[in-house]
Amino acid sequence: MTASQPRGSVCLVGGGPGDPDLMTVRARQRLADADVVVVDRLAPTDGLAGLAPRAELVDVGKTPGHHAVPQEQINQILVAHALAGRRVVRLKGGDPYVLGRGGEEVEACRAAGVTVEVVPGVTSAFSVPAAAGIPVTHRGLARSVTVLTGHDPLDPDRLEALVRLGGTLVVLMGVTRLAGLADGLLAAGMDPATPVAAVERGWSPTQRTTSAHLASIARACADRGVTSPAVLVVGAVAALADDPTLCDAPAVLLEVATLARPSG
Ligand SMILES: C[S@@+](CC[C@H](N)C(=O)[O-])C[C@H]1O[C@@H](n2cnc3c(N)ncnc32)[C@H](O)[C@@H]1O
Repeated sequence: MTASQPRGSVCLVGGGPGDPDLMTVRARQRLADADVVVVDRLAPTDGLAGLAPRAELVDVGKTPGHHAVPQEQINQILVAHALAGRRVVRLKGGDPYVLGRGGEEVEACRAAGVTVEVVPGVTSAFSVPAAAGIPVTHRGLARSVTVLTGHDPLDPDRLEALVRLGGTLVVLMGVTRLAGLADGLLAAGMDPATPVAAVERGWSPTQRTTSAHLASIARACADRGVTSPAVLVVGAVAALADDPTLCDAPAVLLEVATLARPSG
């Protein structure tokens, strides 16, 4: 049993990829004790009222291209509630420290003299591929994994470095700029036949995987209307995706399904 959260403090809680079952025990304890819960768009909100029965819920959710509440203001909300003596839970999707701006929120709390704690969460970077049957590393296929944001374009030097590194690339926030990213990786020397999978809405009833080669993934995703939130997996392991929708897909996708599955 962990000590309870002190009054007048902030706890950044990683809520996992969306399914409440994937929240940790400590996350649930912090929610149960919370006076205020400040929630993100991709945080698990199903059943939140029951998990945090005494708490005021503050929604600061952002949608892609539209930041509902600017980060600076979110920081101020956390600090103001804590300085008023409340137990504040900042419920974030995935893990607070994986492309989640958790570090900035911790810094803002510390700068204001507010006690802050972090409860790690199950990151979408690894759990969403897993939900689609993709291990991000796999003996004989990938010995490393690099997680990156697709939000900002990468310069040719960084793209070449990623290609040289090998292993699996996991891209978050990559749907909007997918075509540019794929072109950049191809220009940097990545094999056009590299398997790629885009996993939308992981761990939800509407989860869907779109698989193709690097050379055709942007077209495949555009044709199927792939939208955020999605995790992109680039590399040999992407060919391991369980893809029940593959049979409805164009021939180029079927080719991916025939890529050899490793035996060990
Ligand atoms: C701002 S990042 C936050 C990542 C988060 N901190 C984590 O560790 O998972 C948001 C991105 O995570 C990915 N993501 C989060 N949850 C997802 C889910 N359930 N299914 C697919 N992608 C998800 C998407 O790429 C989305 O654009």
